[in-house]
Amino acid sequence: MPELEEPKWLSGAVGYEIYIRSFADGTGTGIGDLIGLHDRLDHLAWLGVDIVWITPFFSSPMADHGYDVADYTGVDPLFGDIEDLDRVIERCRELALRVVIDIVPNHTSMAHSWFEAALADPAGPYRDYYLWRDPADDGGPPNNWISHFGGPAWTLDEKSGQYYCHLFLPEQPDLNWRNPAVRREFVDILEFWFERGVDGIRIDVAHALIKDEQFRDNPRHPDTADLVDPRDVFHSFEHTYDLLQPESLDIYREWREVADRYDAALIGETYVLDVPKLAKLLAGDGLHVGFWFSTMSMRWDAHSIRHTLREPAEGIGHRVGWVQSSHDESRPVARFGGGDLGRRRSLGLCVMLMGLPGVTFLYQGEELGLDDADVPVELRDDPIATRNAGATGRDVCRTPMPWEPGPNLGFSTADHTWLPVGHEQSDTVAAQREDPSSHLRQMRSLLELRHGLVGMTDIVEWPSTPPELVAFTRDDHTFVLNATDQPVQWTPGGEWQIVYRTAGQPGESGPVIELAANEAAVARAH
Ligand code: NOJ
Repeated sequence: MPELEEPKWLSGAVGYEIYIRSFADGTGTGIGDLIGLHDRLDHLAWLGVDIVWITPFFSSPMADHGYDVADYTGVDPLFGDIEDLDRVIERCRELALRVVIDIVPNHTSMAHSWFEAALADPAGPYRDYYLWRDPADDGGPPNNWISHFGGPAWTLDEKSGQYYCHLFLPEQPDLNWRNPAVRREFVDILEFWFERGVDGIRIDVAHALIKDEQFRDNPRHPDTADLVDPRDVFHSFEHTYDLLQPESLDIYREWREVADRYDAALIGETYVLDVPKLAKLLAGDGLHVGFWFSTMSMRWDAHSIRHTLREPAEGIGHRVGWVQSSHDESRPVARFGGGDLGRRRSLGLCVMLMGLPGVTFLYQGEELGLDDADVPVELRDDPIATRNAGATGRDVCRTPMPWEPGPNLGFSTADHTWLPVGHEQSDTVAAQREDPSSHLRQMRSLLELRHGLVGMTDIVEWPSTPPELVAFTRDDHTFVLNATDQPVQWTPGGEWQIVYRTAGQPGESGPVIELAANEAAVARAH
């Protein structure tokens, strides 16, 4: 099948995830909002970002900080109103930034009027918007599916005696995507936002919308009884029946027709760690881009890194959404060893992600090289942490963005912020802008380099290297990462000039590429 026309602006773009609660507070409530975001957009333009992805700002009881949506076309007063959003979109236009919003189609909030109607009238039309089953013979949940956030994926509605399905919190009932009425609702929602000037959507849990029609039990891996974190428990099952059902692609084909009318992009939060399976959601006419999350769990060694990058690069190419951080995971600096070591490695990986075809996303604070923040147990707010004893949760990567020295590091004028400000003055945007060797300035130069690559071939070669290195070439550029704690030399053949490096100044040329420990470099054939 010939590929449909893609939004041209997507090709080679750099995205930036804004976790709205923690980006900038413009109204002094201690929680980030749209006015705050509007006033800080210049930072993103200065950095060289092309796409701004804003996490949910819709009306919500906030049981999962906005991923429990009560009205898909309304702005929650906590974040402002629709005019504030219009101003954000307008300012993004002025700064040549594309706007991607976060649509959450797998589930609604239980405060959504559809679910309220489904509860109130089991014989009414909204009942079938959700997934209901009778109890098992013993009165318990109808199958062994479990929630990402702890406990069974089923909650009993005592009034009707039936269970409803929720792959996340009980406050987030899953929609029934086999119901054509649900599909029509979302086509209207997409049209509403595209008409308003939004350039694309990030689709929350894009791999989960359709469930097995017979609701069969998932197989479970043995020896997983002592797991504490509910997400580990979730991954101790084979998700044969609750995730990745083949009919999902039909939904995205339908959405693609809508998106194409507006030159808009469909970007899936596809937690699918298998390239051929992920490719099925993309096909030629499905999602434009699917996130590749194996970077979040790979080990720091050349073999794992090469494997993690090469497989999707070869199997999916320009449709990969490269990420190494998000509002759901421990920050890469922490994962890769913490402090300066973690920062060096994370920037090195970023060089590789920026060199490959596809769309590369940064998560707010990644440009500053932020480490995880220390959030004391009593201040944690993520339901994973507050509802599961012993689980750390996701607050460590969600603390307020550090902007400048001063109260709350410039995030808010409030006495109290929703999570503690977990960083130092030296981490702030203002401090790092002044320092030519800062992480922020290195990131900015990297984005400049990335923009120079637009128009390059999507064909990537993986030359053989010393085993400590990961390297690929695209046209006349070679991207190389030393994944060890020792310096390494490489003589790839020919003459090279270093145009970017993460430790030291670029500029040298010659047949040998020398890399410091955990350093990445970009070399151009000379
Ligand atoms: C993925 C989102 O990124 C996460 O923050 C959220 O909790 C779940 N989906 C449920 O919507």
